[in-house]
Amino acid sequence: MSVLRLENISLRYPSGDGGSQAPLILDRINLDIADDDFIVVIGRSGSGKTSLLNLAAGFLPPSSGHVTLDGRSLSGPGSDRAVVFQDDALYPWLTAIENVAFPLRLRGLGREQRLKEAQALLERVGLPSAGAAKVWELSGGMRQRVGIARALASHPRFLLMDEPLGALDALTRVRMQGFLLDMWQASRAGALLITHSIDEALMLATRIVVLSAGPGRIAKAIPVRFARDYLAGVPQPELRASTQFRRLHDDLTGFIHSEDEGVAA
Ligand SMILES: Nc1ncnc2c1ncn2[C@@H]1O[C@H](COP(=O)(O)OP(=O)(O)OP(=O)(O)O)[C@@H](O)[C@H]1O
Ligand SMILES: [Mg+2]
Repeated sequence: MSVLRLENISLRYPSGDGGSQAPLILDRINLDIADDDFIVVIGRSGSGKTSLLNLAAGFLPPSSGHVTLDGRSLSGPGSDRAVVFQDDALYPWLTAIENVAFPLRLRGLGREQRLKEAQALLERVGLPSAGAAKVWELSGGMRQRVGIARALASHPRFLLMDEPLGALDALTRVRMQGFLLDMWQASRAGALLITHSIDEALMLATRIVVLSAGPGRIAKAIPVRFARDYLAGVPQPELRASTQFRRLHDDLTGFIHSEDEGVAA
């Protein structure tokens, strides 16, 4: 079992003027992501969600505390952690299949092998015939799937996603949630996903982490089982309609709301 661990992490960005103390963005965060976890982070804008993901990816060092992967300190980004950004930047001058094949260069594969693996990944994300399409010919949902296929190309142990479904219409979004869970199960990579949607958090997470703002702290961590129920065959509408889902939805909405009032007061 692999574990990506954030241990007592605090973060300040270096201040521009060099003099005054930069504000504290994240305050003593402790978070373990095991390879069978699907962690969803929710919290209001500016609470530090993207900063947290950037720390887990190794793009940023923490100001204090440690980020470790299987006990070893991270020294920077690595192919064991793939990142899907919010506005996923596919390379517009490449076709869909070339975008997916791109990270395979880093693994030293020849062109033919790269395209073969990329085609298999496109099939896995449900786009078997989209390979030759240019990026601008794809819908938003298709682009996100190409982005996820590209992230999976490096066989990551952890998949880190910053609001990957934020720009999609409601229907596509629900379909993509099911797709993400299927991907998660098939890839056996631990997942960390950021969202603003309580419904999405409940549907995807094995654990929901609520980040409070100013500075970002873990206000609540809630184990959830709807994702596993979905993978065991219970349809999404049935899960959403269940008393338990609705109750948790209400509780979380109330909790996040009261956090906001606390900040405003
Ligand atoms: N590179 C940076 N340099 C300085 N400050 C930054 C930097 N990136 C983020 N911040 C600050 O850190 C705080 C948290 O930002 P972050 O992007 O992590 O929030 P977020 O929870 O992802 O917000 P959103 O929901 O709007 O995406 C904000 O106050 C932001 O201004
Ligand atoms: Mg963000």
